Amino acid sequence: MARVPLVAGNWKMHKTVREAVETVSALVPLVGAVEGVDIVVCPPFTALADVGRALAGSKIELGAQDMHWEPQGAYTGAVSGPMLWDLGCTYVIVGHSERRRHFGETDEAVGRKTAVAFAQELVPILCVGETLEERDAGRTEEVVARQIRLGTPDLTPEAAAQLVVAYEPVWAIGTGRAATGEEANRVSGLIRGWLRKRFGEAAEAVRILYGGSVTPQNIAEFAGQPEIDGALVGGASLDPHAFAAIVLAAAGRA
Ligand code: PGA
Repeated sequence: MARVPLVAGNWKMHKTVREAVETVSALVPLVGAVEGVDIVVCPPFTALADVGRALAGSKIELGAQDMHWEPQGAYTGAVSGPMLWDLGCTYVIVGHSERRRHFGETDEAVGRKTAVAFAQELVPILCVGETLEERDAGRTEEVVARQIRLGTPDLTPEAAAQLVVAYEPVWAIGTGRAATGEEANRVSGLIRGWLRKRFGEAAEAVRILYGGSVTPQNIAEFAGQPEIDGALVGGASLDPHAFAAIVLAAAGRA
């Protein structure tokens, strides 16, 4: 099945509103005409509204970095799916390893968020990946299988086909030490196999991204793998030129 690659930029806790708007204003002309790839930027919550306006009419979609599973309520500091949707978000990252590690997010919480994202018309980018300790202990498959099992709710085949999974080995995030294309492809293939058991044929349509120290220099190694359908990019997505180079490579244009 031909899957359209997706490149998503996760800006994490970077950029004021002004800096964020400047970044996308530079990015739009660089990738505006590129076909054969879907593009998403995920600024901090504070910049979503202005970035959304700056993206209007472009092919770049807006995503958030996290969401709460309740639509509203007494959850100080949290932001809900309907609030994101209202700002024009179409994607939301769930279960990023930094949320799991620094904010104590459990697999169960991630699963609730994934379910609610679908219910609120946001496409979840479900992040999974093992730590260095888990990898060294030979537990990569067990850990990622559990994250997939608990992170994906029961979904109709139509919804499951929309799902995006980002395989991000924790030891590769922000370290400059990316996985090899071969290893990332192997784990992505396992992920697709687990999704197939769960959702049948719909798993063939799920986009599985690689994330962890992706750069313009190494993107080709991942984009060329049969089980990898794009990238979730952190540090390199902060620079519009670097991000555009990754997008063009993922589209097979560089
Ligand atoms: P990185 O981050 O590209 O800076 O390693 C990736 C991510 O956390 O999604």
